[in-house]
Amino acid sequence: MNTNIGITDANRQAVALELNKVLANEFLLYTKTRNYHWNVEGSSFIEFHKFYEGQYKALEEMIDEVAERIRKIGHYAEARMVDYLKLTSLLEQEYTNDKKIQLNNLLNDHETIIQQLRKLITKFADENKDIGSSDFITGLMKQHEEMAWFIRSYLK
Ligand SMILES: [Fe+2]
Repeated sequence: MNTNIGITDANRQAVALELNKVLANEFLLYTKTRNYHWNVEGSSFIEFHKFYEGQYKALEEMIDEVAERIRKIGHYAEARMVDYLKLTSLLEQEYTNDKKIQLNNLLNDHETIIQQLRKLITKFADENKDIGSSDFITGLMKQHEEMAWFIRSYLK
């Protein structure tokens, strides 16, 4: 069934490709945040165990929204780990139980995603004529900006 929503096939495809890269990055960051939720140690263990839980739960919802946005513009969401590892531009570091290293790793990833989304907001609107996806990732970027602020506040 054709997705007849006033955006050309080429533009829908271009947007879906970028959104699948966003999805891969969100999935990697979700996994990293869960890793730290499980493996953090040291003073304020419970505080960080819970803080990471709040963040990975938020990321889980964001992942779902990105995948479903891809479906709304007529494409399939990448959904295999092997595909995420090919598409992601984020890196997985060695295991660490140190919350300061963990927080820095997470902050770097959020900031990378924010910069990526900021570029896509104008690309989707101006180049691909997909105002809906542009608006959607504006909201997504703002969620990452808030999460990054929370993490940054611990690193003072
Ligand atoms: Fe848990």
